[in-house]
Amino acid sequence: MTIDTLNIIPANSPLKGSVEIPSDKSLSHRAAILGAICDGKLHIKNFSSGADCRNTVNILQSLGAEIEFITSSTLLVNGKGLKGLREPEFILDAGNSGTTMRLIMGILAGQSFYSVLTGDESLRNRPMGRVIKPLKMMGAQINARKNNTVAPITTCGGNLNAIEYSMPLASAQVKSAILLASLYANGTSRIIEPAKSRDHTERFLKYLGVDIKVDGLTIEITGQTELQPKEIKIPGDISSASFFIVAATIIEGSEIRLTNVGINPTRTGLISVLTRMGADIVLENERETCGEAVGDIIVKSSNLKGITIEGEIIPTLIDEIPIIAVAAALAEGNTVIKDAQDLRHKESDRLKATSTELKKMGVDITETEDGLIINGKEQIDGGCMCNSHFDHRIAMALSIASLAAKNPVTIENASWIKISFPEFGMILTDLREKEYGKQVF
Ligand code: S3P
Repeated sequence: MTIDTLNIIPANSPLKGSVEIPSDKSLSHRAAILGAICDGKLHIKNFSSGADCRNTVNILQSLGAEIEFITSSTLLVNGKGLKGLREPEFILDAGNSGTTMRLIMGILAGQSFYSVLTGDESLRNRPMGRVIKPLKMMGAQINARKNNTVAPITTCGGNLNAIEYSMPLASAQVKSAILLASLYANGTSRIIEPAKSRDHTERFLKYLGVDIKVDGLTIEITGQTELQPKEIKIPGDISSASFFIVAATIIEGSEIRLTNVGINPTRTGLISVLTRMGADIVLENERETCGEAVGDIIVKSSNLKGITIEGEIIPTLIDEIPIIAVAAALAEGNTVIKDAQDLRHKESDRLKATSTELKKMGVDITETEDGLIINGKEQIDGGCMCNSHFDHRIAMALSIASLAAKNPVTIENASWIKISFPEFGMILTDLREKEYGKQVF
């Protein structure tokens, strides 16, 4: 066994207490990227400590952006304006981060210099054609392996034309790449989504003074205007909060408060779905920060019922499906998840990983082409060895399932949690008032 293995003893007491949820990963990527091309200095407060966002900062620095860590979570960015980036000397490495790769591709499409972008083994196998295609339509010269579909990717951009593009799939990463490239294009671009995906890029662009209009599923953005430097404060990540929301719901007697969480309606599908299943979730202290909705989430344990989850709610909970499957494992009746085929192209094939690993714990779960069917039971057996599939969200979902299980579970490759949420174990320990899991050497 390696140092990367966690042994989790089931919770025999409820989760209690109040914790502040660390920084939102999606917003942190966008803040760093937009900060780097702002016209002047700005501070970014409460920046994510996850490895993914660090990769975004590293790439921006390789492109000549001046970004300094004043504290571990406060960045001072000396934005160089839209045209201030320079040709990188080395290959740009996005690591495990799809958001880094896809959003940076939007920026690189606008630069008249040459660059090479790559990532780790998982990222080098994830679909990039969905971004390359519209960026090439705008005029960027892009080449990539396997007929322009996977990284490494070379780009030589500049002289972009505005685009009218109907996206074939709802993806905030693809949408954001086109929006970022549109900043460099002549004229007004129009992007039409098939369903609403997270709209953080649109909100930040508006906050920083860009001419952007959103009308339902259509976005219009006019390029060639400088972004005004303004302080950015990043709220807590609802995708990180989701693990504790489900944990408190399924562990009897629990009552927790999660503070300073981003509750942008394009991210709160998990709350809607759990509420429909019978969860006791209340929002308090709702406010707005830098164009984003923020609030506290109070969760008490409750009994759940199985439901069907499908259609346009899927993009609003796309990262939460593994932890929803854990909730469904303890719900009364069947939960059917449909229209989630894109989950096969995340850090792992999350439909397969969720079903394979929960099955080992005794959950009655079936993988379908575009989703999962879970037949809830009174308990999760546990007493087995699971694997994260080198995927942070699978590792955290399995951790929560293990806490709610009858017997201890060992999770291999658990350190991938650091990709998005290095504080996960510490917060769970706080809520649990004892050690979350022991590393097995
Ligand atoms: C993200 C969008 C989602 C999500 C990912 C982060 C973003 O991907 O799964 O973790 O920050 O834009 P898609 O938009 O490609 O589905």
